[in-house]
Amino acid sequence: MRLTTIHSTCLAGSISEREAKMRNLFLFLASLSLLVSAIPASAQEDAATIASSICSSCHGAAGISISPMFPRLAGQRATYIEEQLKAFRSQTRTDPDAQAYMWGMAAQLDDMTIHNLANYYASLPPAQGTPGPKDEMKAGEEIFHNGIPARNLPACAACHGSNAQGVGSFPRLAGQQSSYIVRQLMAFKSGVRSNALMLNIATKLDPKEMRDLAVYLQSL
Ligand code: HEC
Ligand code: HEC
Repeated sequence: MRLTTIHSTCLAGSISEREAKMRNLFLFLASLSLLVSAIPASAQEDAATIASSICSSCHGAAGISISPMFPRLAGQRATYIEEQLKAFRSQTRTDPDAQAYMWGMAAQLDDMTIHNLANYYASLPPAQGTPGPKDEMKAGEEIFHNGIPARNLPACAACHGSNAQGVGSFPRLAGQQSSYIVRQLMAFKSGVRSNALMLNIATKLDPKEMRDLAVYLQSL
């Protein structure tokens, strides 16, 4: 359907900047998907090869993305990565960027490859934190460790670990791209990324608090 739309738009000769961007993204994703399906079965288990030839174009070399659009995967919890790749594959993680970028990627991955990719990324050293404005870091630190008792907001550290390093299948947040964190908190709040625990948390946060938390977390 997308192809037809692009084709007829070209014929009409009036391609807006946004449409051109979407077309480029679509062609880029299509070429990456072809790459994934072109990987021979014998190499399917070679997570490091897939990671460096495909995933790295967005998630960065060694799982440390440079662009704030893309989450960092290095040092992330293996069980969490595995769950998320399966959620993209079953199309149950439904926020717009998940659909645009990750549904096609994950559709090509079998369980064994997902398992190996998760262990591969979990084993890489995480990104060093990048400090942000002091007052934002301080405000975020306070909520992260103590919550907001007056609003019944629990401390994030209770689930994500006292250094935001992640615990069990609760994801690591330390060193993550701050704009990715804000985007996910908004997605939980609006329900486009569906998770009962994080819906309850994100509903109690306003945009400034989300930003403060994200700036603090990226600094770790
Ligand atoms: C074209 C860019 C692109 C490529 C290539 C790509 N990803 Fe992603 N990935 C994204 C974006 C964008 C997101 C964030 C989606 C969102 O906002 O919900 C993401 C999210 C993820 C997440 C969830 C991270 C989290 O913290 O919840 C995992 C895991 C992941 N990708 C793994 C992979 C793996 C493994 C590959 C290679 C097989 C890969 N990605 C290839 C763009 C890409
Ligand atoms: C009761 C446990 C719990 C508490 C408390 C909690 N979280 Fe979470 N959080 C989770 C779970 C579980 C997930 C994974 C959700 C999923 O699978 O989609 C998550 C995911 C996230 C993500 C998405 C990470 C990614 O890589 O995509 C962010 C961001 C986040 N939490 C931030 C916070 C912040 C900030 C707080 C405190 C204000 C907080 N969480 C408190 C359980 C919790």
